[in-house]
Amino acid sequence: MRKKFSNNKLRVYIFKIRNREDFTHTMMKYSILLHRNGLMWRKAIVERGEAMNTKKMAAEEAVALIKDGMIVGLGTGSTAYWAIAKIGQRVKKGLNIRAIATSKESEAFARELNIPIVTFSEVNEIDITIDGADEVDPDLNLIKGGGGALLREKIIATASEKLIVVVDEGKLVKILGAFPLPLEVIPFGVESTRSKIENLGCKTEIRMTDKFEKFITDNGNFILDCEFFMVKNPKKISHELNRIPGVVDSGLFIGLAHKVFVGRQNGSVDIIQKNGSRDMNLKIQEKQQDD
Ligand code: 5RP
Repeated sequence: MRKKFSNNKLRVYIFKIRNREDFTHTMMKYSILLHRNGLMWRKAIVERGEAMNTKKMAAEEAVALIKDGMIVGLGTGSTAYWAIAKIGQRVKKGLNIRAIATSKESEAFARELNIPIVTFSEVNEIDITIDGADEVDPDLNLIKGGGGALLREKIIATASEKLIVVVDEGKLVKILGAFPLPLEVIPFGVESTRSKIENLGCKTEIRMTDKFEKFITDNGNFILDCEFFMVKNPKKISHELNRIPGVVDSGLFIGLAHKVFVGRQNGSVDIIQKNGSRDMNLKIQEKQQDD
């Protein structure tokens, strides 16, 4: 499938994916395809395809919240990539933190940058986690899991005092669900699990890699992408999905995000708070970081 794309076509698809008004069934599939191809590849596309790297802006702004001595959760995906890269720069300049990663991919990247990595057996609580999202609604509920790391992401988010979400403005939606909801499911009995999920009113697809093999998560499970199109009551759907035997967890993150940093094409980063208030137009040029 990937071989059919030229770089120019990919850029067009990335632009359309960001434009939520034009978000169609086909676009969702391209979005997932992009997620499956690894941090480095995505970074290269972002760098070549965007005049204004809104993901990088949001991620770097959020990293300014990290202080000496903190235990930091590292997210997964092309936006979290920039946060990890910035944390690496700050560690090089003397920032003293320890980190715990939401995926093997992010952990490997952090190790390359000499960010000290710890496990849950070594820490009680995570002070702050910076992670991306596929969709963010006005109540700061999220769909996550486009990169297949939703389970570790949720474990780390729920163990964190603060979950800071970093996105470009195309991720903001009124109602969750245009992005197919990822579920991590146990391989045993997946056909039966799948039909119980579909009884809730969605169509499911088992996520495949670009080599047409089943995508296997870091925990040895499958991902089912569920097309609900609109998740009007995310809390209810989340409970119903989690009650199905075989579903390990869903990519619905309800009430977990504390702040969302939104990178905008006009060069600003908005911060949306949990209580609905906003710090608008925090210009990146004006940021005061200690590096
Ligand atoms: C990975 C995730 C990612 O945070 C989410 O898919 C957003 O990715 P990106 O920053 O590449 O758009 O949930 O499981």
